[in-house]
Amino acid sequence: MIKKVTVKTIQNYKDNGEKFSVLTAYDYSTAKYIDEAGVDIVLIGDSLAMVALGYETTHSIDVDEMEIFTKAVARGVERAMVVTDMPFLSYHTDIKSAVENCGNMIRYGATAVKIEGYSSYILSVIERLVESGIPVMGHLGFTPQFLNTLGGYRIQGKTQEATDEILSQAKKLEKAGVFSIVLEMVPEDSAKYITENLKVPTIACGAGKYCDAQVLVSDDVFGKYSDFKPKFARKYGDMKSLILDCAKRFNDDVKNGNFPSKEEVF
Ligand code: KIV
Repeated sequence: MIKKVTVKTIQNYKDNGEKFSVLTAYDYSTAKYIDEAGVDIVLIGDSLAMVALGYETTHSIDVDEMEIFTKAVARGVERAMVVTDMPFLSYHTDIKSAVENCGNMIRYGATAVKIEGYSSYILSVIERLVESGIPVMGHLGFTPQFLNTLGGYRIQGKTQEATDEILSQAKKLEKAGVFSIVLEMVPEDSAKYITENLKVPTIACGAGKYCDAQVLVSDDVFGKYSDFKPKFARKYGDMKSLILDCAKRFNDDVKNGNFPSKEEVF
């Protein structure tokens, strides 16, 4: 019987000083292999709008589409915690629709949801979700859904004052009931200070090695997405070359009459 990763497992990691890992996945097979590799949380990130659907920003994906990807990923995962990143405007208009949209992700196989921001409205959404039995991962620092109000892809928390501000936002999220917080594009020393002053684990997305966990977009890790590579991402493979090579060889074989062989026909 596989022991599933739960919010308790995640908190125990922090309390015992053990690091944990988070990778994004958007389809059944990738989710299955990431889970098999022992990654602790599989995140259906809204980054999928860019890396899997080819949009320019994460704003272009809606809640109906996220439901499809959540179902696919959840079917592939046995051990990891499955977290759905709630897309732009799926929790912003009112608490009732926020609970319905997030609750549907749990119905479709997620264990938790991730939401960006820290406003008093967002805090009340988090409280209501947690009251409804929906665990919430917070997201502070650079928050891609606020790209246009932040004025671009900018590092957040560069001064002590800005770091204190993120820590104060994080403490409010913690009080509202989040089980973890993603810190995106925050300098390493600032993220260390924030991490040391929180009870819940922090998950670095370009926030250095002192956070309790690390998250990356799997298409960056596998070398599949090639439009750009964030400075903080590490490429462990070259799926782009692998796909190009396989597709070229198939194309050649078909055109040269080398596919199918006699073993590949009925
Ligand atoms: O959308 C995403 O993939 C994310 C993570 C990288 C944190 O939000």
